[in-house]
Amino acid sequence: MTTTPRKTVKDYIRTIADFPKEGILFRDVTTLFADAKGFRMAIDEMVQPWAGEPIDKVIGLEARGFILGGAIAHQLSKGFVPIRKKGKLPGATISQSYKLEYGEAIMEIHDDAIRPGERVLIVDDLLATGGTCQAGAQLVRRLGGEIVGCSFVVDLPELGGRTLLETQGLDVNVLCA
Ligand code: PRP
Ligand code: ADE
Repeated sequence: MTTTPRKTVKDYIRTIADFPKEGILFRDVTTLFADAKGFRMAIDEMVQPWAGEPIDKVIGLEARGFILGGAIAHQLSKGFVPIRKKGKLPGATISQSYKLEYGEAIMEIHDDAIRPGERVLIVDDLLATGGTCQAGAQLVRRLGGEIVGCSFVVDLPELGGRTLLETQGLDVNVLCA
């Protein structure tokens, strides 16, 4: 009798060539999110490494970090805080510019979203250069928050994001590369 190997999170992610620019291999997690088993597996695996760590808030990085971060916040029964691209948040914000694999941008957080001393988990779908998460971590730290860790579905190790974040004292967990 042959047994089918158990699917892993990676098996639910597809790669699309030349999006959004020629030469980029875009890791598309919408296929993971669309599958009930895959999505639950990803959320459970993203939460597991931080079990036992006190966490006050879950931060999601725009845009796919909102989907993961919302589900993780619900699972942990904690509040969710978005870090958004410039000009999207309605209240008073602080801003941080950063570089992307394919461009440059500014991230913002509401200036009252994190209280000094609050312990947060930062969540996104993918770690590439680390610029987005680094900007998010800078925003959290500027508000006096403490970062418990950073959780991603996919790492692109050749772009060095993990090393960048770890040299800044951040604990990083990824589900697959
Ligand atoms: C992607 C991804 C991460 C970021 C990772 O978002 O979802 O947020 O890039 O890249 P980095 O590690 O090099 O910073 P993108 O900037 O494409 O924005 P979007 O989610 O709003 O489409
Ligand atoms: N963000 C930056 N690089 C990316 C990639 N290769 N796939 C998906 N999102 C990304």
